[in-house]
Amino acid sequence: MKKLIGTNKKKTSVFISGNGSNLRSLIRYSKLKKSTFKIILVVSNNKNAKGLSYAKKNKIPYLILNYKIKKKAEKKLLYLLKQKNIEIICLAGFMKILSSNFIKKFKGKILNIHPSLLPKYKGLNAHQRTIDNKEKYSGFTIHLVNKKLDSGKIIFQKKLKIFINDTANILEKRIRKFENKHYPLVLSKYVANL
Ligand code: GAR
Repeated sequence: MKKLIGTNKKKTSVFISGNGSNLRSLIRYSKLKKSTFKIILVVSNNKNAKGLSYAKKNKIPYLILNYKIKKKAEKKLLYLLKQKNIEIICLAGFMKILSSNFIKKFKGKILNIHPSLLPKYKGLNAHQRTIDNKEKYSGFTIHLVNKKLDSGKIIFQKKLKIFINDTANILEKRIRKFENKHYPLVLSKYVANL
């Protein structure tokens, strides 16, 4: 594996919509010497996203996008990503669907984290559907983004047992802890091999 030091670290943008626990752990890891990525820009489609506080606290520039007019929003976004020489995009609870035109421009460079064992439970409410179907296992998947929702190449998957008293809420919290631990590690390894 190549070592990326200092300015060679891959310039990364993290897209969020809400809570931002994955953003927080990505920021923490990015500050370590061993990280192969650095976070240059945070993007949110939601001006009230709690996750924006982590960008502010860490003095990372952020962009709030009005995604109602997707074409306009993505035009602005592409301009800024280019201006900042962003090489990697990391979706971390970003609940909007990027257009295929946008995805084409960052082929193999957009990662997403999804809270299920894909290809099962693509889309919204994955935890509730997992519980409703009485699955024995769940987990999360880190995958590349292509134009089909939650269907790109799988890079990493973590399988976790579901306990008898688990609700969607309990499961979500438990899985998220593992997401927070693994997302930076997987991203760092992925970009080191680009
Ligand atoms: C995470 O659990 C992530 O897997 C999920 O949103 C949560 C964001 O948490 N992503 C999706 O559902 C994408 N389809 P966070 O805001 O605390 O990082």
